[in-house]
Amino acid sequence: MQLKDKFGRTINYLRLSVTDRCNLRCTYCMPERGMTFAQRDQLLSYEELLHLVDMLGDLGISKVRLTGGEPFVRTDLPYFLKELRKRTFLEQISITSNLTLIRPHLDELLDLNIRDINVSLDALDRQGFFEITRKDEFEEVSKSLRLMIEKGFNLKLNCVVMKCKNEDQILPLLNFTKEHPVSVRFLEEMPFNGSGNGSSEVLSYKQILSLIETHYNYSPLVHESSSTSQNYQIDDFKGTFGVIPSFSRTFCGNCNRLRLAATGEMRTCLYGQDQLNLKELLRSVIPKDQMKKEIIEAVMNKSENGFAASNENEEKYLSMIKLGG
Ligand code: 5AD
Ligand code: SF4
Repeated sequence: MQLKDKFGRTINYLRLSVTDRCNLRCTYCMPERGMTFAQRDQLLSYEELLHLVDMLGDLGISKVRLTGGEPFVRTDLPYFLKELRKRTFLEQISITSNLTLIRPHLDELLDLNIRDINVSLDALDRQGFFEITRKDEFEEVSKSLRLMIEKGFNLKLNCVVMKCKNEDQILPLLNFTKEHPVSVRFLEEMPFNGSGNGSSEVLSYKQILSLIETHYNYSPLVHESSSTSQNYQIDDFKGTFGVIPSFSRTFCGNCNRLRLAATGEMRTCLYGQDQLNLKELLRSVIPKDQMKKEIIEAVMNKSENGFAASNENEEKYLSMIKLGG
């Protein structure tokens, strides 16, 4: 069985949020105060998560990325990773992290062959980092980053570019790739900041590219069709860079993703509404085959793209932490 939608897209990639909590307070993601987080019994337990992963594996999911909040905020994450690793149908297990809590776990990750880590990093200096994340954690992040490069992790640094806030971080981040074999990706800001409103002006991927063009010559790289990034190589740089049109939504035609929030809500599009609550279904008396049918149907009805999904969405924009990363 392979999940597909009515536009013929194959859905084989699960983005799984293991917690809605985070130890940072990035301005584009959350307000400084007043966020309410889920109570423990509202979260899917590890057993429930594994049950759902197995069920989704039967439906053709073959890649999973753990997201949050910050995944390492959740107790016993290594236990969950070990259990996930036993699922041989998972060709790839990757993690998105802010690197503040990951350092004690690096060798365990390597033992489990979990090497693909996306790093949320919007500034490369202590002050800039503090202004965006509202926490003074840059030194720890920087230490982990360097150690992970040494240990051979495959790292993608994700930088959300915000007009007049961290545009000045684009060049330092690019320069970092001169000597380090990592990929830096510049993301358009999305309206998922928990305030219900988007940012007034988004710096588009085209504007980001033109800014880079005034400093460097770069050439395009080929990429996997389901990738959300357009990637480039600057001559003689060890790393690469990319742009992610997360607001312009140019990549929807090849989307292969399904999202599951830590509290069980399943979404077929970041810009859409919840389609199903898998926690409630799992905790109910509904037979598992019926549950699978509901998942298949929800995926079938995935919106054509993020604009259509947004038009159908009556909710206010939530925070990324509530959406399944
Ligand atoms: N706009 C763009 N990207 C966002 N992220 C979180 N909130 C937003 C937003 N409003 C990104 C983070 C992280 C990933 C999980 O999502 O940078 O890398
Ligand atoms: Fe935490 Fe990521 Fe949100 Fe920043 S963007 S507050 S690191 S969940």
